[in-house]
Amino acid sequence: GERVTLPGLQRWKEGGRRLVMTTAYDAVTARIADPIVDMILVGDSVGNVCLGFDNTLPVSIAMMNHHLEAVARVKPRALLVADMPFLSFHLSTEDTIRNGGGFLQRGADAVKLEGGAKRVEMIRALVECEIPVMGHLGLTPQSVNAMGGFKVQGRKADDALRLLDDAHRLQEAGCFALVLEGIPAELAARATETLTIPTVGIGAGPGCSGQVLVFHDVLGLIEGHVPRFVRTYADGFRVLQEALSRWVADVRDGTFPAPQESYGLPEGIGETIAN
Ligand code: KIV
Ligand code: NA
Repeated sequence: GERVTLPGLQRWKEGGRRLVMTTAYDAVTARIADPIVDMILVGDSVGNVCLGFDNTLPVSIAMMNHHLEAVARVKPRALLVADMPFLSFHLSTEDTIRNGGGFLQRGADAVKLEGGAKRVEMIRALVECEIPVMGHLGLTPQSVNAMGGFKVQGRKADDALRLLDDAHRLQEAGCFALVLEGIPAELAARATETLTIPTVGIGAGPGCSGQVLVFHDVLGLIEGHVPRFVRTYADGFRVLQEALSRWVADVRDGTFPAPQESYGLPEGIGETIAN
């Protein structure tokens, strides 16, 4: 199908079409998601979802590049967004541009980074270099230590007003869209109404211009507790483990591989190897 573009997303938002984004971290997940979503995010959630870390803070630009390259090889039609990991957009504008530009050179269409007013300088520097930026406000996982855990943000009047102000500053700085994560639905709806760029919500209620969920959460691939904001559409973990266990049983009872899953020798060669 047609490639999704930044102006295309803005037109869809203005036409009232809800935007959909999910994550992909490798070629398999990218091929599954690409034909049906509008945006694919190579999220720094790769750290906890795929790499076994407790949070996203240990994720490096090298790790992100590795996963982005795998996704980009699929040549997605969906808009491909790459997440700037912790410390990749904090140190200097030069470092930030090199990291963000490196994502574009590896096939990303845009980058995403967390934070509000404090990030405006870096966002402006990226946009100035033709690197499209998606903002990310609210429960920003890279702030886990500062927030004292993964807690819903913007529940106090001053926090809510600051979030609205941050949203407008990010739009003003040139962001083409904003992820709103872990905030009250009314606050996300208010931000969405007053912005011209689209908002993409996760745990931010139905009043956003679109929604994002982690691929592995939608498909039930994560064992154990699922947060309130996730709706799971498949029991992926159980389905895949059950299928794998049937293969293991077939190996153990000698029914795999069958003749049709095996190769034979040409006529006459059998005698040669038997002698
Ligand atoms: O890393 C990620 O998956 C994200 C989305 C949940 C927005 O940032
Ligand atoms: Na992220």
